Amino acid sequence: MTDLKMQIAGTADLPDYELDQFIEEAFFAKDVLLQHRGPGAEFTGWIDLPEKYDRDEFARIQKAAEKIRKESQVLIVCGIGGSYLGAAAALDFLKGGMYNLKAEKNNDLQIFFAGNNLNPTYIQDVLDMIEGKDFSVNVISKSGTTMETSISFRIFRKALEDKYGKEEAAKRIYATTDKEKGALKELADKEGYETFVVPDDIGGRYSVLTAVGLLPIAAAGCDIEKLMEGAKEMRTLLLQDPEEVTDAVMYAALRQELYEWDKEIEIFVNYDPDLRMFAEWLKQLFGESEGKDGYGIFPASLNFTSDLHSMGQMIQDGERNIFETIINIENTPRDLPIAAFEEDFDGFKYLEGKPVSLLNQTALVGTANAHIEGEVPQILFSIPDRSEHSLGELFYFFEFACGVSAYLEGVNPFNQPGVESYKKNIKELLSKYKD
Ligand code: PA5
Repeated sequence: MTDLKMQIAGTADLPDYELDQFIEEAFFAKDVLLQHRGPGAEFTGWIDLPEKYDRDEFARIQKAAEKIRKESQVLIVCGIGGSYLGAAAALDFLKGGMYNLKAEKNNDLQIFFAGNNLNPTYIQDVLDMIEGKDFSVNVISKSGTTMETSISFRIFRKALEDKYGKEEAAKRIYATTDKEKGALKELADKEGYETFVVPDDIGGRYSVLTAVGLLPIAAAGCDIEKLMEGAKEMRTLLLQDPEEVTDAVMYAALRQELYEWDKEIEIFVNYDPDLRMFAEWLKQLFGESEGKDGYGIFPASLNFTSDLHSMGQMIQDGERNIFETIINIENTPRDLPIAAFEEDFDGFKYLEGKPVSLLNQTALVGTANAHIEGEVPQILFSIPDRSEHSLGELFYFFEFACGVSAYLEGVNPFNQPGVESYKKNIKELLSKYKD
């Protein structure tokens, strides 16, 4: 059973007939997606993945995760974009953003992400984290040639080989890449690294439910079976009745209608700092899928209530080109009462003993109402908890809605030609060091 709920507010000014028209078109876009008839159709393997994933590889992922947990204190995950954001989002969502501090305290596996930037201080800081500790590396790259990933992998591979020697290091390296081609696959085969597959028909930002996301998530001790179960149930819901206006169809239609009405920026909002990386995953999913041919809603993310003290003014009162998509976790994993004192030094004595969650939920309602008054249309997604099942639902829901929405916009959701330009420029600038 799925638990994700959607509510819409602040759209009363939009004409109904127009939304109906967008819904009609979203149905068409959904059919194109499901029948693999649209541009990029060769990358739609993620649609059936929760039903059809490779059970043998899944078992191998679970075994490798156990091995990593048994013999290492730290796992370094080298990857960028779709090759790391899903796992990073999942770890924060399921374990809490402070999981590495907690892991250190509880003698659990720490997981650090590298290869998602070229900053030497960051890399050095991660190297400091493995000092004196047993560690393993999961290098993730579908192409096998991504510069950030390669450079960081070089550094952590060297650290592994220096510490354990080449042979033992090879047993601590796990490569997630193409099943048969690419530089990483070649190296892995030559050195004898255990490899996992990024399927041909699944692109980076739709790959969280493949080994790309599953190995780091399982290594963190999370239940990847429940994650797949949540995704599977969401898939069933979204695909079972072709006539039904599912939330995914409605969300895709509404986004494009809002865009037509000059709402060019979508802010993904949360009231839980542990959803910050989930919003980063959403930004990549929608940004790389839809930002094409001079079009596309600009995806942004804000963490409330923190960002209300920095961006609240702009949202309430700046240019009216924003709509808001809120992800709300109904039951916070942990709660605590507001501390009591004799005196009322800050005017909040009346809240003593009340749970902090009450304030957070009140902040959501109060802020949402203020934003509606400020003409910010809203889509609220509520999920009961931060469990693996809920996360599986969320991942699948947004991947599906994004595919429909991008086809509705008229672009190929599964390529990213614009990303090549910066890579080309860097390579040209670096070419002078070849001699
Ligand atoms: O969504 C995508 O396809 C990209 O963000 C890629 O995941 C990213 O560029 C990394 O590519 P690769 O896995 O080939 O190293």
